[in-house]
Amino acid sequence: MAYGLLKGKTGIISGALNEKSIAWKVALRAKEEGAKIVLTNAPIAMRMGEINKLAEICEAPIIAADATSVEDIENLYIKSMESFGGKVDFVLHSIGMSPNIRKGKAYGDLNYDWFLKSVDISALSFHKFLQTAEKLDAINEWGSVVGLSYMAAQRTFPFYTDMAEAKAMLESIARSYGYRYGKLKKVRVNTVSQSPTETSAGSGIGGFDKFFDFADKIAPLGNASADSCADYVVTLFSDLTRMVTMQNLFHDGGFVNTGISEDVMALMEK
Ligand SMILES: NC(=O)c1ccc[n+]([C@@H]2O[C@H](COP(=O)([O-])OP(=O)(O)OC[C@H]3O[C@@H](n4cnc5c(N)ncnc54)[C@H](O)[C@@H]3O)[C@@H](O)[C@H]2O)c1
Repeated sequence: MAYGLLKGKTGIISGALNEKSIAWKVALRAKEEGAKIVLTNAPIAMRMGEINKLAEICEAPIIAADATSVEDIENLYIKSMESFGGKVDFVLHSIGMSPNIRKGKAYGDLNYDWFLKSVDISALSFHKFLQTAEKLDAINEWGSVVGLSYMAAQRTFPFYTDMAEAKAMLESIARSYGYRYGKLKKVRVNTVSQSPTETSAGSGIGGFDKFFDFADKIAPLGNASADSCADYVVTLFSDLTRMVTMQNLFHDGGFVNTGISEDVMALMEK
């Protein structure tokens, strides 16, 4: 059901790789709520071509940008503003990748060049999105920037290796830049800490299936789906959450505050 929450708003959505991507669902919901959007992803991800389907449904231009390149991000904002005929109201950062996870490296055997790559792609890029927007004055007052995070920023999940550090940095950037951008332009910056979700990035993590089931049994509401994440993110882009900033917001069915559940205790019974 649509409520017209984003009527008249414009936004940039990164990270839609395929139909399972959280960003894909956010793009569909943003369009449904009345926004005009631009889609972006790394040039290499474009080659898969799936994003073209989404662009057609959303009537959205696609502007390629490697999130580690300030030059690409500048071009992204400039072209987006040209396309909208004005500044941007919201930005979704839905980008994450760890070469160490991809190559199955354990936490005690990390490749440090890859570690830096994980941080650059998954966290520093958030700062690059924000700093470039500020320099180009690309975001309207009361605009909203959302990044996607995971609870390994606060609590240890062994298989998440260097992405835990990247997410901790991502959430810290939301606080630090949220302060700065709030003061300067009343732009709010938040991260949404999402349940394990079956996507390319999610399923690439070792033991994902078991962990997905465990989280689902712990959370009183069960795991939050990508669709419900999109609903939540859309509210953060809307004018209904204008005073929410510098927050890491858990969207996890209650997992973070649950010690143990009856379902998990039943599994332990011999
Ligand atoms: N899936 C989960 O379990 C889960 C849980 C919590 C948070 N998240 C976070 O949600 C976000 C989106 O992930 P997803 O689960 O939808 O998976 P996904 O694989 O669909 O999306 C990740 C995206 O990052 C993009 N990307 C990678 N390197 C890039 C680069 N250099 N420049 C630009 N884009 C680049 C990929 O092309 C892809 O579109 C990520 O930040 C992820 O860490 C995922």
